[in-house]
Amino acid sequence: MADIKYKQMEFSIERGLTLEEYNLLQKINNQFTKDDIYIEHTDNNILVYLNKIDLEKFESLIESEKPAGESIFYNILEDIKNIGSYGIKGGKRVFIDYNKERKVSNRKAKEKKRSKQFYTEGHNFSTENNKCPEQFLDKIICGDSEQILKELPDNCIDLILTSPPYNFGLEYDNNDDSHYWENYFKKIEKIFSECIRVLKYGGRFVLNVQPLFSDYIPTHHIFSSFFMKNKMIWKGEILWEKNNYNCKYTAWGSWKSPSSPYLKYTWEFIEIYCKGNLKKPGSRDKIDITAEEFKDWVVAKWSIAPERRMKEYGHPAMFPEELARRVLKLFSYQDDIILDPFNGAGTTTVVAKKNNRRYIGIDISEEYCEVAQVRIDSLKE
Ligand SMILES: C[S@@+](CC[C@H](N)C(=O)[O-])C[C@H]1O[C@@H](n2cnc3c(N)ncnc32)[C@H](O)[C@@H]1O
Repeated sequence: MADIKYKQMEFSIERGLTLEEYNLLQKINNQFTKDDIYIEHTDNNILVYLNKIDLEKFESLIESEKPAGESIFYNILEDIKNIGSYGIKGGKRVFIDYNKERKVSNRKAKEKKRSKQFYTEGHNFSTENNKCPEQFLDKIICGDSEQILKELPDNCIDLILTSPPYNFGLEYDNNDDSHYWENYFKKIEKIFSECIRVLKYGGRFVLNVQPLFSDYIPTHHIFSSFFMKNKMIWKGEILWEKNNYNCKYTAWGSWKSPSSPYLKYTWEFIEIYCKGNLKKPGSRDKIDITAEEFKDWVVAKWSIAPERRMKEYGHPAMFPEELARRVLKLFSYQDDIILDPFNGAGTTTVVAKKNNRRYIGIDISEEYCEVAQVRIDSLKE
């Protein structure tokens, strides 16, 4: 093993290995070469030395042996599957030095020729940022965002995090969530236009959205083209893996027939757009993300359980605090001004306050604004 570089993974196994598991370990080490993967067993640990792997072969070996109960081998398989960075070569996932071969020569010149974010050319965003008037700061404001946002100056917000009503027909407090699609997009886009105006140069708009798959409306694509038409840079997309299905297990469309199978999703999307510049200046001592958090969260698939307190807060479509916490720490600095124009039960604003950011939360429902305010007040000692 001396010259081979490995990614090492350690699994603690205090109960030791069953005979079945021990045999499986031997089979893995016999069927895979040490160039690819090698597994060692000590008293309380399993050490996996991983260089590259034919994942299908590995999975079918485990499946064929079917070690009983909650065998550690299922964890090993899952963890290998979950490694986000790898290359593919000869049908294998390559975990070590896979980037070396992808080095592009003259990268800068080629990027220039391709004209990176061509769709933002000719934007006329001012680079001058303005102070947000104090009367709006750290406030939950009840009203229609289209109107309220008009009161804010241009270029005064650091980051917007929001999820709009999805037009799913949900039972919101006082507003209908089932409009003719074109009207729905027109209304939300008016609010988004105001959001773009109030964002600072270098500010970010982070949009959590779930398409209505059953209506075949790709909401995330429609909004992305809107933002790109409005000269915002599409920075990227995070998959929020919720590990739950968007429809009943039994909804198959055409059962066991290619006629019209129904696709199921366990995730939502988080789209990120930047105004004018991908870089957001800020002072070093206002960064609060840790190295571990950074390493984990730049892998753009976040596994976070859905909010479980929706009944308690009386709101049908909240996102969980953990989602907001990651967005704020990854994309903003402490003391930044965070806006949510569809603030609902106030998840964005409560997380902003908990993480030493200033906040503005707007919602059309008085009831939700009250809940958001109570959540904020409960943080005060
Ligand atoms: C998907 S929910 C947001 C939930 C929020 N992220 C949370 O975690 O509680 C969308 C919210 O938009 C609000 N809303 C709908 N139309 C609005 C408008 N024109 N202006 C402001 N808020 C609006 C609804 O009342 C609803 O609370």
